[in-house]
Amino acid sequence: MDTLITHIHRLCQIRPAGNEHIAGSAMDDLPEIENAWLLVKGGRIDSFGAMADCPDSAGINTINATGRLVLPAWCDSHTHLVFAAPRDGEFVDRIRGLSYEEIARRGGGILNSAARLNAMDEAELYDQSLERLYRVARQGTGAIEIKSGYGLCLQGELKMLRVIRRLKENTPFTIKASFLAAHAYPPEYRQNKTAYVDLIINEMLPVVAGEGLADYMDVFCEEGFFGVPETERLLAAGWKYGLPPKIHANQLHYSGGVQVGVKHKAISVDHLECVGDAEIESLKMGNTMPVLLPGAAFFLGMHYQPARKIIDAGLPVCLATDYNPGSCPSGNVPLLLSIACTQLKMTPNEAINAVTVNGAAAMELAHELGSVAVGKRANLIITNKMENQSYIPYDYGNCPVHQLLIDGKQI
Ligand code: NIG
Ligand code: FE
Repeated sequence: MDTLITHIHRLCQIRPAGNEHIAGSAMDDLPEIENAWLLVKGGRIDSFGAMADCPDSAGINTINATGRLVLPAWCDSHTHLVFAAPRDGEFVDRIRGLSYEEIARRGGGILNSAARLNAMDEAELYDQSLERLYRVARQGTGAIEIKSGYGLCLQGELKMLRVIRRLKENTPFTIKASFLAAHAYPPEYRQNKTAYVDLIINEMLPVVAGEGLADYMDVFCEEGFFGVPETERLLAAGWKYGLPPKIHANQLHYSGGVQVGVKHKAISVDHLECVGDAEIESLKMGNTMPVLLPGAAFFLGMHYQPARKIIDAGLPVCLATDYNPGSCPSGNVPLLLSIACTQLKMTPNEAINAVTVNGAAAMELAHELGSVAVGKRANLIITNKMENQSYIPYDYGNCPVHQLLIDGKQI
């Protein structure tokens, strides 16, 4: 079915095809047409322009978007949306003074989530995850990356990855899967960490890759978790099976994660609370996307990522939610935009570029999502009535989405 959207107050994020990511000072620009139309054919953006040249709407499904903005659906490139249970008990422990790392050392944190996940059957895990996926879609997310990493054993990791595959098959959203068995050491491997890395490389990776269950290889590269030498082994093994890296780096310490990610040609390095000059220089040498997860810094009460320093160095910045039960139990992109603007001092245009075109790039989807361009898929947000896009992060805590179109169809 063709759909014509008319009288769009502002059609935002118009980019020439082939514009794969936006970096540096260009991030403060969000090219737009005021008083615009857009025609969707076969699920893709067929054409668009100013209302003065609007095609005849007779016989075409028409949406009147008077007073509303139209912009690309959010591309959330880092989530752990498949999980079994909340961890609100640990939330209270942290309020009372325990740190995220202390909770992890006591066997809570990721290990707590792994115990719950391994005890849950796949059907229940799928149902819960599906509900979460539609909840974030109501807030405008149209493409999303989801990680394993709460199994920490072959069966548990496969269960998570199969749930992700079913979400891909049964919903209209674009989903990428990352294999994150290297998220924490299971208790039985605490005294023999090398054996767990061996297990991932020799036993898990061949099955995961053989069944085509993952698009990326992920590692939590961090002191107390997986160090640089282990990360190097894991990333090299991932590449051997055709899985490029997208890794957790520099969340809690200057761990060398950024440098090892760039060295191994990671698609992205994510978190980046701890970024100094050496990390910036390393990022400048490669094509790895820096992905900031300020929702986790907010929820853990940590210092925020130095977005200004990264953008002012001429680099791109991507933002993602990190939706997970421990460090960020929210997949709400509009709220993420508010945090990015108020705490990281990103401008609304920079923040929106970071979750649209750069979010698509961090999932290797920029050729078909993340901007308004002829031929791209019509994954579009039609907003509530508002004057301009700055209102989205300004109106914090509220949802700006009036309608979400995925491949031109209303969700
Ligand atoms: O991205 N930092 C590592 N992993 C997740 C959180 C995992 C958890 O606490 O369950 C993150 O913050
Ligand atoms: Fe994460």
